[in-house]
Amino acid sequence: MVIKTDRSKELFERALKVLVEGGSSPSRGPANYGDYPLFIKRGEGATIEDVDGNRYIDWMMAYGALPLGHAHPLIVEAISEAASTGTLFAAATEVEIEVAELISGLVPGAEKVRFANTGTEATMAAIRLARGFTGRPRFIKFEGHYHGWYDDYLVSAHPQPAVLFGHPNDPVKIPDSSGLNRRALEDTIVIPWNDLEAVERAISNYRGSIAAVITEGIMANIGVIPPADGYLQGLRELTRANDILLILDETVTGCRIAPGGCQELYGVDADIVTMGKGLGAGLPVAAFAGRGEIMEALAWGGVLHYGTQNASRAGMFASRVNLTELSKDDGAAFKRLWEIGESLTGGLNRVFEETGTAAIAQGVGPMLQILFTERSAITDFREFCAHVDRGRYQRFALSLFEHGIYMTPSSALHSVASLAHSDEDIAVTLEAVRTVLSS
Ligand SMILES: Cc1ncc(COP(=O)(O)O)c(C=O)c1O
Repeated sequence: MVIKTDRSKELFERALKVLVEGGSSPSRGPANYGDYPLFIKRGEGATIEDVDGNRYIDWMMAYGALPLGHAHPLIVEAISEAASTGTLFAAATEVEIEVAELISGLVPGAEKVRFANTGTEATMAAIRLARGFTGRPRFIKFEGHYHGWYDDYLVSAHPQPAVLFGHPNDPVKIPDSSGLNRRALEDTIVIPWNDLEAVERAISNYRGSIAAVITEGIMANIGVIPPADGYLQGLRELTRANDILLILDETVTGCRIAPGGCQELYGVDADIVTMGKGLGAGLPVAAFAGRGEIMEALAWGGVLHYGTQNASRAGMFASRVNLTELSKDDGAAFKRLWEIGESLTGGLNRVFEETGTAAIAQGVGPMLQILFTERSAITDFREFCAHVDRGRYQRFALSLFEHGIYMTPSSALHSVASLAHSDEDIAVTLEAVRTVLSS
């Protein structure tokens, strides 16, 4: 099947004249999308339509920013109300208290909340806060974890040939960008994830100088890799015993995995939690939150965090209705998100078996990724880099476009269920996957 995407091609050529790589982020450009990306004109529910009129079931959902789906009527209404009464004021607003109260009620330990606009801003501020509060310079981040594009943690986050990583006891730090502050990574300790001995070793090597450990609760930027049983709890015990703050980056998993995110799902309590993506239902809303005693270090700019757009009224209006919808009926929304995600994951694994494809769908509830590999599971970054065929996945995902399925072409990203997806969407997706794998 060949779909026509001439208009996307034309727009890409036009875009190249004024936008770097024809877009606003390398992940939306040719590195992932081949010759040119699809230009999307509208979205509704679980469906998006490109500028050539082709329709797709969208399993990316704006990188997980849309738990309710595209153009949900309540979100449209909320944004319209904010738009017609003032999107942003140089003033405090009541709605920001309401959203903070909602977060505080849902997220364990979120006694005090501070709003930002992106996950990067939230994690960057959380690191500064941890350093300011503890008076210590270093922090631990894990191989394969992505927290945004701030210099201090932009290291060993992207997939690379496994030969570059060095020994796991002393990983080589691989900066993910040119132009980083030369000293930015001096205080960043990089170690493998899902390995408590590595954490113990780092704590003992750098005793007394570590402010925080920052971790994703579920690895979500190297496919989807869940924490090993007891790992997050072990991390909590080790950090607490050594007076180190635990920053749980829930930019992806907040508003997705459970009302209280990974803290609730895995029974772990962080000192600071960061949120983004799904929090704003498509508007740029992020937050960091935590124990009052720690968060109060921000007061009077002691640990400085500013932002013209922080808690923009339009974003807060969207977030208020989003959180209210997600948390009503005793967690019914999350139950449904899990059902959709697990049904898709299970169905994909059946199709791989039926078609004799060396691939697995691996995920946690509403988030999953297809990994072309001979292995039965991928449990860490190094294993992903050594044993996942990323090129094959990209070709497969691009072929799915032809069948009306929009999954990320990057094997390091993942698919995500939304409340707009139906059982029919899953059936259509599985049929398309079967067709592509059999052709
Ligand atoms: C775990 C995690 N943290 C932080 C970020 C950065 O968020 P943003 O893209 O909103 O800056 C991302 C983005 O993908 C992420 O996956």
